[in-house]
Amino acid sequence: MYLKKKQKELYERSKQFLNEKTTATATQIDDLREAIVYHEWRYYVLNDPVVSDFEYDQLYKQLEALETANLDLITPDSPTQRVSNDLTSDFPTVAHLIPMLSLDNSYNAEDLRDFDQRIHELAMIDAETDIEYVVEPKFDGGSIALVYEDDRLVRGATRGNGTQGDEITNNMRALRSIPLNASFSNHNIKKVELRGEAIIRLDNFENINKKREEAEKSVFANPRNAATGALRMKDPSETASRGLEAFIYQLGYAEDADGNDILKSIPTHHEGIEMLASLGFKVPTVERKLCKNINEVIDFCLEWQDKREGYDYEIDGMVVKVNHLSIQEKCGYTSHHPRWAIAFKFKAKQATTKLLNVEFQVGKIGQVTPVAKLEPVALAGVTVSSVSLHNEDFIQSKDLHLGDTVLVERAGDVIPYIVKALPELRDGSETKIEYPTNCPSCQTELVKPEGEAAWRCENYVCEAQVLRRLIHHVSKDAMNIDGFGEKYVVRFNELGWLDAVPDIYRLDYEKMSELEGFGQRSADNLKEAIDTAKNNGIARLLYSFSIPHIGRSVSRKFATEVEDIRDLKDWTEEQMVEIEDIGPKVAQELIKFFENEKNLALLDELESLGVNMKRLNSEVKQEAITDGVFSGKTILFTGKLQIMSRTDAKAKAVAAGAKPISAVSGNLDILVVGEKPGSKLKKANELGTVTVMTEEEFLEKITD
Ligand code: IVH
Repeated sequence: MYLKKKQKELYERSKQFLNEKTTATATQIDDLREAIVYHEWRYYVLNDPVVSDFEYDQLYKQLEALETANLDLITPDSPTQRVSNDLTSDFPTVAHLIPMLSLDNSYNAEDLRDFDQRIHELAMIDAETDIEYVVEPKFDGGSIALVYEDDRLVRGATRGNGTQGDEITNNMRALRSIPLNASFSNHNIKKVELRGEAIIRLDNFENINKKREEAEKSVFANPRNAATGALRMKDPSETASRGLEAFIYQLGYAEDADGNDILKSIPTHHEGIEMLASLGFKVPTVERKLCKNINEVIDFCLEWQDKREGYDYEIDGMVVKVNHLSIQEKCGYTSHHPRWAIAFKFKAKQATTKLLNVEFQVGKIGQVTPVAKLEPVALAGVTVSSVSLHNEDFIQSKDLHLGDTVLVERAGDVIPYIVKALPELRDGSETKIEYPTNCPSCQTELVKPEGEAAWRCENYVCEAQVLRRLIHHVSKDAMNIDGFGEKYVVRFNELGWLDAVPDIYRLDYEKMSELEGFGQRSADNLKEAIDTAKNNGIARLLYSFSIPHIGRSVSRKFATEVEDIRDLKDWTEEQMVEIEDIGPKVAQELIKFFENEKNLALLDELESLGVNMKRLNSEVKQEAITDGVFSGKTILFTGKLQIMSRTDAKAKAVAAGAKPISAVSGNLDILVVGEKPGSKLKKANELGTVTVMTEEEFLEKITD
């Protein structure tokens, strides 16, 4: 959409606007608009902003101010005249009952006092009279709108362009924090639209990224990206499996049986939210406060600015809303935001520092990752001295150079990352970052497989990879050898004791106890931990081998299928993909591993060293239900389900004795089709042996 050169120009132009005040001419306003539209595209479309939110807000405010001073220069396509757009072509578009607006921003106590003063003026309330406000978190996820009619959830949508959004009802139905039914009729409400935010807990977010790393997928920079992505999954069960949660923060619209707007029959925002809580919705609780006046608002906002680090979710500020709807009504709206609400933005967790060096690290399966070494800088409570640069494209898109001053942000309170370089601070001494053509460890020429972002060293015995794999093998999630950290692996390797996995199980504890700083106790402890690990089951063992795409959950699935890990050598791809959620990529990697004689010899060697190869009792699959309507049958769901979420459907099928599988093959018995079933239905019909049924027929069968 934008050429690189143009992007650079727009970025530099933004810096100019940020650095100097502009006198309004039509061309300058146009230039500013173009820059803002560009940053919106980077943020909403690419999820990859090149300026901080604060800087974007400054640009936006500058445009608003220029336009307010020059009303004749406002054009209908100005960013101030619409709300941002995230429509995609993948989902049907639906119109919101009332527009979903944005929020105006404030940054300090003074801004909040100005806001309070404005409300007094707009609502014509004398300055001495306190106005009540509700303060609640400004969740940083994806906005959603939910429509309930006759007490049933009938529609879910993204915010889209504010007027229309993507219809994602099925994905919303998959979220357990969203009730499918709610007794609005008890409150005389026939139709209602609720506003909220779909977000991912920070601990969940870390798990998701861990899993993605295992599966060699790119990690999400922050929980917001993970959440907005999850909202638009094609398969609702995937939305749910990301652990998305919906917080409801606003009653948008309410209508009674005669079609009258009855929103104001609930006189305050506070009561509206309490009602929603009583109907089973997830609403902010301790993080929400009904404040008597603006002083309480300011205290609560500042209190949360400090508390945000310990909160379970990523929040980028608080939202202050006038409590009484009658006062809200007097304040009204601009085309961009309600005048009765304002966001209090927390201080950005950003800092600038110098990019000193780039190191290239080789991962356990050879992927080469550039890591920036920074001049240590304090960032929201931690010192950051090194950040991942992901891959070559990242370095290029940010135009990073050695010696650059860079802006670093701690996104999602978890992973620090480089937002951008500050090219205007260059003095000419900066140098290009040279990407290695050979492995920094073993010098093998690097390759870049098609469709992948990372360069790879394909030398399986490359020392750096071997070390990484050993570190992985002993790690907590793999063989879980207590006390056997990276330091020991490196030290034993340097001593020549540890070159391959079996060496772990033949360490000489006598010699170890004589090592400097070791002693008998440490050696005994390590022996005990290693002996314990020998009794692990198949899941940990399989995961410990660093096979591409074989993460923890995949390993657990295979562990339930075989009695001895080596039985997997007889499995075909067709058999493997019948396991739920196992695809051809995983199957092919596993087959490759078990085809290699060396790996089979490795397993035998490990067994001779006392490592267990057999399935544990805890890994045995739960007995299948034998007297269900679908007992002994395999089942597959395809297309968009209208009534149930995918997860619900699968759970129901299992409860009825069926075994869900993930591909159409000769072993498939039942195919349940939703809307737009596609190639799976075609294939099933061609086979002629598959019973095809609709979602309704499926439900009828299981409730018979
Ligand atoms: S109220 C008419 N309350 O912030 C009221 N918005 O810039 C307008 N957001 O993407 C929104 N937490 O989804 C409101 N407690 C909260 C919020 C909240 C997060 C998001 C909202 C929108 C953006 C508004």
